[in-house]
Amino acid sequence: MLRIEGLHSFYGPIEALSGIDIEVKEGEIVCLIGGNGAGKSTTLMSISGIVRPRMGKIIFNGYEIQRAQPHNIVKMGISHVPEGRRIFPRLTVIENLEMGSFIHKNCDVLNFVFELFPVLKERRRQLGGTLSGGEQQMLAIARALMSKPKLLLLDEPSLGLAPIIVGKIFRVIQELNEQGMTILLVEQNAKAALKLSKRGYVLENGRITLKGSGEELINNPMVKKAYLGES
Ligand SMILES: Nc1ncnc2c1ncn2[C@@H]1O[C@H](COP(=O)(O)OP(=O)(O)OP(=O)(O)O)[C@@H](O)[C@H]1O
Ligand SMILES: [Mg+2]
Repeated sequence: MLRIEGLHSFYGPIEALSGIDIEVKEGEIVCLIGGNGAGKSTTLMSISGIVRPRMGKIIFNGYEIQRAQPHNIVKMGISHVPEGRRIFPRLTVIENLEMGSFIHKNCDVLNFVFELFPVLKERRRQLGGTLSGGEQQMLAIARALMSKPKLLLLDEPSLGLAPIIVGKIFRVIQELNEQGMTILLVEQNAKAALKLSKRGYVLENGRITLKGSGEELINNPMVKKAYLGES
């Protein structure tokens, strides 16, 4: 479904991605792990068109999208839940969701996200900025789902959340995947992410240093030491 080939992305003179290759097949959860500043968010932003890569290709369902505009990339079926949630704090829950639904104006998808996150239905008239951190993360995911994506990009969905909410978010990721959604997941919570994932990649300093099945990576000594806090 998605193939990234030899991708280089820069911020001015700073090279954040130095020729990465990643593949995500239809129906998979693929996770991307790596330390702070490794280039994980830059990878997702390059896919969704927020960062314009300098070299390389991003091929989505047969189309090269590395020069496409972000709104066209959403229309093609890619939705991005950015790091730090970025909901609209002064808009209500329902208004935030409507911002994500500029393509599909129907109630089905709204009912679908309210079923997935009943708390958002209860709080639909509440301002986004007054929700708890966990509820804001649910809102950010729900908003991304409003465009009915084929590929969902999730950047650190569990960051800063209480363990019980982290569990809920991971269950939702699994549920979405079981319903057929393909997911590229960036996570600090490497163990939980790898358990859920079909395959994974380790990114270090803008390069892929390791790839394998979720199970292979969980059992890899380097991954254990560097990312799972085990020796
Ligand atoms: N707007 C920017 N301007 C300049 N450099 C940037 C910018 N955004 C990111 N970088 C640099 O690009 C590199 C990759 O950053 P990126 O945010 O992709 O890392 P990350 O893996 O998502 O890290 P984290 O785990 O901390 O979120 C880092 O060295 C970072 O300092
Ligand atoms: Mg990041």
